[in-house]
Amino acid sequence: MNWGARVAEQIFVGGGGEGYGTPQGLLLKYANRHGLIAGATGTGKTVTLQILAEGFSAAGVPVFLSDVKGDLSGLARAGSEDFKLHGAFSERAATIGFTDYAYRSFPVTFWDLFGKAGHPVRTTVAEMGPLLISRLLDLTEAQEGIVNICFRVADEESMALLDLKDLQALLVWAGENAKDLSLRYGNVSTASIGAIQRRLLVLENQGGAELFGEPALDLADVMAVDDEGRGRVNILAADRLMSSPRLYATFLLWLLSELFEELPEVGDPDKPKLVFFFDEAHLLFDDAPKALVDKVEQVARLIRSKGVGVYFITQNPADVPEDVLGQLGNRVQHALRAFTARDQSDLRKAAQTYRDNPAFSTEDAIREVGVGEAVTSFLERKGVPGMVERTLIRPPSSQLGPITDQQRGDVIAASPLRGKYETRLDRDSAFEILARRAEQAAKEAEKAEEEKEREFRNARRYDPNRETPTRRSRKADDSFGEAMAKMVVKELKGTTGRRIVRGIFGTLFKGR
Ligand SMILES: Nc1ncnc2c1ncn2[C@@H]1O[C@H](COP(=O)(O)OP(=O)(O)OP(=O)(O)O)[C@@H](O)[C@H]1O
Ligand SMILES: [Mg+2]
Repeated sequence: MNWGARVAEQIFVGGGGEGYGTPQGLLLKYANRHGLIAGATGTGKTVTLQILAEGFSAAGVPVFLSDVKGDLSGLARAGSEDFKLHGAFSERAATIGFTDYAYRSFPVTFWDLFGKAGHPVRTTVAEMGPLLISRLLDLTEAQEGIVNICFRVADEESMALLDLKDLQALLVWAGENAKDLSLRYGNVSTASIGAIQRRLLVLENQGGAELFGEPALDLADVMAVDDEGRGRVNILAADRLMSSPRLYATFLLWLLSELFEELPEVGDPDKPKLVFFFDEAHLLFDDAPKALVDKVEQVARLIRSKGVGVYFITQNPADVPEDVLGQLGNRVQHALRAFTARDQSDLRKAAQTYRDNPAFSTEDAIREVGVGEAVTSFLERKGVPGMVERTLIRPPSSQLGPITDQQRGDVIAASPLRGKYETRLDRDSAFEILARRAEQAAKEAEKAEEEKEREFRNARRYDPNRETPTRRSRKADDSFGEAMAKMVVKELKGTTGRRIVRGIFGTLFKGR
């Protein structure tokens, strides 16, 4: 069968051979109805992700994926005989009737929060919003309230909140004005502010400072196609990021919410506008408050009509909350181990979520499939889940395993985005504005003091017994703080300012 001819309609995933079912394809029309790639370690999840990314790219659909182990960079290079690490690829291709199998490279854009293994990817503190920032810092509700106040003040005062320095400056200011702020907003304790500052420090040590600033990520650069009409494969270096799971999960969640907010409604397009792969998805749900899980569920449901497909990759489907799992229409279930009673129950549960095939037991199949094989079910015409099949997953066309640092460097150097994000900008923002105002306030205070002193001196000329006034030395920040507090309170009265609320995530972390 020549699958190339069908590429406009579906992505070939794998197929038959003896003991296997009919060839399996992922219909592009239903690719925005999300998906799941699950399986124990070493069973073939990453390769499945790789072949799906290839398929989408070839169909003109850009994808975004995180590379947790550094083994997806191979997408940037055509495969070769040298990289048939596991069995003969062409043999596998022949077995499953993949006659137009060929080695190919794909247009990869490398991204890296730390700016080393790809273009730096940044967002601003304001874009991330108070709720995700609070989640990132793991704040209590009271602390989150303070972050909200800082955002609000910055907003009303038209002070840009770009990087962590800006947030720190506002927290310092809030500390100095805790009393005034408490009057207006309820208890703003300096202890809470201190706690937030300490969390910020931790975030900074984890490399969080790199994430915030400008130039911020332009979604258009992610949603791009190359000259040949192939979707760009955006690969986020996530190996180092994995040591800060909260940073990793919050960043991806932010990206999802950004896509959700920025993209227009498109209903059910012929093919997705973008496909987003969420690797190590359990990190998103580990000890996540119920409200967060609800929102992820909601975003997954609604982002579909923006033409974005979200695919979760995880070892155990039980890691994904049921409400979310229920929305993942396209599934590739690699082998699950069943050593413990808990494993067995998870396996049974996983099996129950599929439409049975009378030819075999789904449960047994999930236990038995080998490496690079899976139990699959894709949405069929009218969006009905297909019957499960045992599927030998097709080999990738790009290189299996990572490329060298040198090769990666070459790809980055040749990228059309080269130079756009590399140099950090430091636009005038809260930090600078507050510092300047403090300086200004200090100068004015000084002038006033001098004025007073002169008056006293003049007065003393006529009354030599009058005491010399002691010049109060004031710390610049104090006078600034007072001036600022008065101004803010005045401004906040009857304001019509734009409020920083993050659309669907607006109530994200409430009520935990
Ligand atoms: N479709 C496939 N075709 C050919 N070989 C495959 C295929 N899938 C998996 N393999 C082989 O199995 C190895 C392990 O697969 P992979 O890295 O995808 O596992 P994984 O489930 O991602 O593991 P981990 O949980 O450790 O990340 C691959 O390096 C490759 O050699
Ligand atoms: Mg893997």
